[in-house]
Amino acid sequence: MKVINTISDLRAFLDLARREGKTIGLVPTMGALHEGHASLVRRSVAENDVTVVSIFLNPTQFNDPSDLERYPRTLEADCQLLDACGATVAFAPTVKEIYPEPDTRTFSYPPTDTVMEGAFRPGHFNGVCQIVSKLFSYVEPDRSYFGEKDFQQIAVIRRMVEDLGLKLTIVPCPVVREENGLAMSSRNSLLKPEERAIAPKIYATLANSVVFAEGHSVKETHDFVVTAINSVPGLEVQYFSIVDGRTLADVKSWDESDFIVGCITVFCGATPIRLIDHIKYKGEE
Ligand code: PAF
Repeated sequence: MKVINTISDLRAFLDLARREGKTIGLVPTMGALHEGHASLVRRSVAENDVTVVSIFLNPTQFNDPSDLERYPRTLEADCQLLDACGATVAFAPTVKEIYPEPDTRTFSYPPTDTVMEGAFRPGHFNGVCQIVSKLFSYVEPDRSYFGEKDFQQIAVIRRMVEDLGLKLTIVPCPVVREENGLAMSSRNSLLKPEERAIAPKIYATLANSVVFAEGHSVKETHDFVVTAINSVPGLEVQYFSIVDGRTLADVKSWDESDFIVGCITVFCGATPIRLIDHIKYKGEE
């Protein structure tokens, strides 16, 4: 695997690959890679001739400087994992390389980017669109792979791709979970042992709520999830929204859409660590 740090070297490498008729897959990441990322990389390797994985801790998508500061950084281990997965290129630029000047562009795709994470982390999706649009323009991939764990992020990026008229295909990939159900996330490495012990209750409750929802309304299902999670000492729901899986607008009844998803963010422990997850109630398995 080649490690490339500059946009010009990346472009030169990919121009050659394209001239040879090769297809290109892109997996954007912020590093601190785990099995969830590995599954995206393996899928890209299986479906494309060249797989580029970007490793860039993007400052413009962090609205809380302490969150950025404590985000895990594990470049050497990341490169080993990518090599083992068969990635062609790890693109690991500096902040100066990506943002020689401040990025003043604004992206706005309501309601996908204004609800849930968009409401609680103002500017977050604008930063995600800034970096992902730059990566798309450097790499010009045929396909780009995103984990469904960040369910809302995929909806926002799809809108951006439509808006900018880009030709690539966005490939959503299923959440990878630990044996106890906890969705894999780079932030899990920040959890203390006692927090790891309670964090799986989030997905266990979401899974139970699918059965509960069969005999109850949207509001009752919402309250079931929030009450059950908040009753666990050390867990506190920031929001739980039951939404249309495409527009992310709230639904009030199960008949309102053929694709309904519950999206949750929970504070775990004293620090606290923000954990996000979702569950599908209806449609698009
Ligand atoms: O999902 C992430 O890790 C980031 O939001 C992404 C897509 C790599 C952009 O920085």
